[in-house]
Amino acid sequence: MEEFYHFAIDISLKAGEEILNLLPHIHEISYKGAINLVTEADLKSEAIIKKAIRKRYPNHTILAEESGLEERGDIRWIIDPLDGTTNFAHGLPWFCTSLALEIEGEIVLGIIYNPVLKECFSAIKEKGAFLNQKPIKVSQTKELGKALLATGFPYDIQQSPEPVMTRFRNMIMHARGVRRVGSAAMDLCYVACGRFDGFWEERLQPWDTAAGMLIVQEAGGMVSDFSGNFYSIYGKEILATNGFLHKDMLKTLERENL
Ligand code: IPD
Ligand code: CA
Ligand code: CA
Repeated sequence: MEEFYHFAIDISLKAGEEILNLLPHIHEISYKGAINLVTEADLKSEAIIKKAIRKRYPNHTILAEESGLEERGDIRWIIDPLDGTTNFAHGLPWFCTSLALEIEGEIVLGIIYNPVLKECFSAIKEKGAFLNQKPIKVSQTKELGKALLATGFPYDIQQSPEPVMTRFRNMIMHARGVRRVGSAAMDLCYVACGRFDGFWEERLQPWDTAAGMLIVQEAGGMVSDFSGNFYSIYGKEILATNGFLHKDMLKTLERENL
């Protein structure tokens, strides 16, 4: 696992620095949906990560956001080459790479790198979570009224704004504050290190949450779907908290009016 860990950190840093180099440039943007963008940075970052994996581990499966699934074996790399693409495309310096390793259906390694702040979040299953190699822990906040939360909105929000908007409204009525900063992977890392107390979002993809989910769990947090059941990265709802707030956030998400 150590070997995978160092390899994954190394390529995350390389891809992240490449994204950062592209930030001041005018971006060629293409569209995957009405508001779902792809820039050259998404593509370059993905190419860097995939090339390195293919060279070192030719028999591993790769699931990457921009190029899809290349099935090879039981060991699967899950790549979000640039989480926060809309931010990046607008020059808002809030984005990261996200890389996870799944072995026989279990996420065992997660690396999320924010090249702007040079913050590298990482976790290995049962070995803890780290920010730039230092151990991190979730917050101790026990009341929703004192909690700073994060969420995000799916790209098809304009087609079906409910129940996303109702959940958002319910949450802002109970929490100290809710942020929508535009990177689910970073949101999860911030729960893991206690900057946020909880995060929820729906209609995410496996590459958005695979690494972050493990980082939260290894930092002592709790992750489930909106019914409090086991969260699968292939599922469509995620609630990640410091543990103390989990029950209250579940209640608030499920509140009548949805
Ligand atoms: C998006 C970001 C955003 C979330 C979207 C994701 P992308 O990923 O994580 O915060 O709200 O649902 O799709 O497109 O920037 O990789
Ligand atoms: Ca993403
Ligand atoms: Ca992405």
